Amino acid sequence: MSAAHAAKPASIEPKHFREVLGSFATGVVVVTTLGDGGRPVGLTVNSFNSVSLDPPLVLWSLALEAPSLAAFRAHDFFAINILAEDQEFLSKRFSTPAENKFSDVGFDPGATGVPLLRGTAAALECRTFARYPGGDHEIYVGEVKAVFDRGHPPLVFHRGVFRRLGRH
Ligand SMILES: Cc1cc2nc3c(=O)[nH]c(=O)nc-3n(C[C@H](O)[C@H](O)[C@H](O)COP(=O)(O)O)c2cc1C
Repeated sequence: MSAAHAAKPASIEPKHFREVLGSFATGVVVVTTLGDGGRPVGLTVNSFNSVSLDPPLVLWSLALEAPSLAAFRAHDFFAINILAEDQEFLSKRFSTPAENKFSDVGFDPGATGVPLLRGTAAALECRTFARYPGGDHEIYVGEVKAVFDRGHPPLVFHRGVFRRLGRH
């Protein structure tokens, strides 16, 4: 690119940045772990993605200001619960700060003890493999220890709206 066409670094306005990122459609997951005294902890996340097949690695990022940060730093295991299309209520439940987000939510402990929500599209049980600084977030890389594919269609998030996949 010639100097005349070099892009001038622009300051990116945060609200616009968020809207543009929202054009990348994602699934919705609830990441769960265990907090003080083994209490279940979880939050809604759409920064989840795959990283590596061998070894099997995934990633997601957690806001430094999130109250659940201490639990994820202290406990080395977490579960990725991939929400099914009829679980929008769980997305809202786990994105709203609350003392006990798990009251009346069905879940079972996985082999590593972390909560696995019932009725999800799929779930992954992970051990924290690495944590990296990521601006105002902390990036978690997990080594996948167990996978559960329940075959339900997934919940989709696009430009701030929850959607279902179209039928073929
Ligand atoms: C669709 C959706 C995606 C989200 N993705 C993330 C994310 O990737 N990382 C994050 O830290 N918060 C994300 N959030 C916000 C958290 O769910 C929310 O701040 C939650 O209250 C954090 O839980 P805590 O207050 O128990 O720590 C998302 C919320 C929604 C609705």
